[in-house]
Amino acid sequence: MNLCKIYSPGTCLRNYKFIRNLSMSGQRRENSKDSKPKTGILMLNMGGPSKVEQVGEYLLRIMTDRDMMQLPIQSKLGPWIAKRRTPEVMKKYSEIGGGSPILKWSNLQGELMCQELDKISPESGPHKHYVAFRYADPLTDVTLQQLEADGIEHTIIFSQYPQYSCATSGSSFNAIWNYYKNRGLPKNMKLSIIDRWPTHSLLARTFAERIKDQLKHFDEKIKKDVMILFSAHSIPLKNLNRGDAYPSEVAATVHMVMNELNYCNPYHLVWQSKVGPLPWLGPFTDEAIRGYVKQGKKHFIIVPIAFVNEHIETLHELDIEYCDELAHELKIEKIRRAAAPNDHPLFIQALADIVKNHLHSKSAISPKFITRCPHCVNTNCLSSKTWFSKNCHL
Ligand code: FES
Repeated sequence: MNLCKIYSPGTCLRNYKFIRNLSMSGQRRENSKDSKPKTGILMLNMGGPSKVEQVGEYLLRIMTDRDMMQLPIQSKLGPWIAKRRTPEVMKKYSEIGGGSPILKWSNLQGELMCQELDKISPESGPHKHYVAFRYADPLTDVTLQQLEADGIEHTIIFSQYPQYSCATSGSSFNAIWNYYKNRGLPKNMKLSIIDRWPTHSLLARTFAERIKDQLKHFDEKIKKDVMILFSAHSIPLKNLNRGDAYPSEVAATVHMVMNELNYCNPYHLVWQSKVGPLPWLGPFTDEAIRGYVKQGKKHFIIVPIAFVNEHIETLHELDIEYCDELAHELKIEKIRRAAAPNDHPLFIQALADIVKNHLHSKSAISPKFITRCPHCVNTNCLSSKTWFSKNCHL
């Protein structure tokens, strides 16, 4: 069965043909006649294994990252959990086509964003994008070396998580600090930060358009009753109680999107991808679907509200486990999944607009970024935020 056709028309693996030729970051621009890039846009994300064989090392990096999660005796327990989970996760990547498409989407987004920036902000151009992943190639330190080799004058660190979490965005920023803390920034390189953008109007419009694309597939008579479930990756409750801003920022995006849609349908924010035995933020996406089916709901649209491109949590968890297997079990009449922003033209405009506004803002770093969670006990956060405060300038 072609799940892409059912749940995400216009996106997914079949769109690879549009992006297959974009491999490592910025390659097409390097080959063009463009002059030396002046502004580098460093796009931070978690990343994903491009090939099934890379799953083991990807999980190992996640499980041993103390900014992402804190386990007892992590240096031993982390590798043990990674090894134990590798076969099951490899199977999932095989089922979505043999690897994560996140690098290909990131490169396409970066390429299109820089083309737009060259038009709307020629004074800071030429622009070049760089992808820096936390757990998969291209890893952050390798990309930073590339950026230095290109002699970039101004590097804008642009988190590709619209909503900030210390476990994801925070870990990526800490990795940059970790790279520079002992060697210092290259002479003449300016650094500045875009750390979050949960309420950007074009981001909200992108999600609204993705939802409208799916609403078209429901009969006029039942369209207004379709339940829209916004699904975001959950976090452990201990992170939430420490003060992580992520849940409130995800909720802010949801309200922006529903406002854009004039609150046309019932909706709820739900949370997916819990792992391990500790309590995490709910309600969980699958349990919420079950709950609404019990309440008589028969039609759903699932919206991945915290992911800007397709990856394992959309292509496997949402499409296969919920929209296919669970829907079948619960005899749901119709369930569809909105595509991630991917290469939607409004989303590309959003990325370029965020960078342009940042360049004009005169604010190299936000007061929110340099403020730690009220109950933060991670010394990396303190050192990293102190370092960025000293080294970011516009
Ligand atoms: Fe949030 Fe350290 S855990 S700033």
